[in-house]
Amino acid sequence: MTEKNIDRPNQLVDHGEEAHSFDGIQEYDNKLPNWWLWTFYLACLFSVGYWIHYHVLQTGLSSMEAYQLEMKEAKKAAEKREAKNPLTDALLLKLSKDPKIVAEGKTLFLKNGCVGCHKADAGGMIGPNLTDEYWLHGGKPTQIYHTIFNGVPLKGMPAQGKLLGRSRIQKLVAYLESIRNTHVKGGKAPQGKKEEG
Ligand code: HEC
Repeated sequence: MTEKNIDRPNQLVDHGEEAHSFDGIQEYDNKLPNWWLWTFYLACLFSVGYWIHYHVLQTGLSSMEAYQLEMKEAKKAAEKREAKNPLTDALLLKLSKDPKIVAEGKTLFLKNGCVGCHKADAGGMIGPNLTDEYWLHGGKPTQIYHTIFNGVPLKGMPAQGKLLGRSRIQKLVAYLESIRNTHVKGGKAPQGKKEEG
């Protein structure tokens, strides 16, 4: 086929049988390179395998199933860690004697919304006074830990476990232990049972 060369319009070029032109754009029916073709064929093959594995036979895990499996394994690992290093009152009390941990706990208390309900001095507002001897959900360090971890959703105390995790909540308990029975001025009236400690 003979047509005009667009770069040099005055010159006619012969492209042979395979050349053709659409709207003045000249094309050749070049053979595709083998690497390209093979990549393409393999991608097609892969997609068929993928489709059968995940959608027809469903032998592969869906993203949700894979996620749930991973979460289950992480939970098991966390339980194992916990079993090896159980949370005890003694451990939490020991942490409350460490000024660095207590300071970190105080920062956590100030920065994680606790002050909105318990006030910055922990004297209580919507939530109870945390500086007296009275506890609604138990005053043992592990009980305080569990109250913070699980919250008391029906009474307006949000669960913090998923948000803050084990180690931060231990620091919060260490801080609360360090200020318990300090009776801040203007604190809320006692609620719950009296517990020394
Ligand atoms: C939205 C308000 C709110 C926020 C935010 C909040 N609390 Fe509370 N908290 C409460 C209320 C309300 C209670 C009392 C629940 C009840 O009446 O059973 C409570 C109870 C507690 C108790 C148990 C007190 C007892 O007498 O047994 C502890 C400990 C505590 N909160 C710590 C925290 C910490 C630490 C934070 C921040 C990480 C926090 N709270 C954030 C409202 C809140």
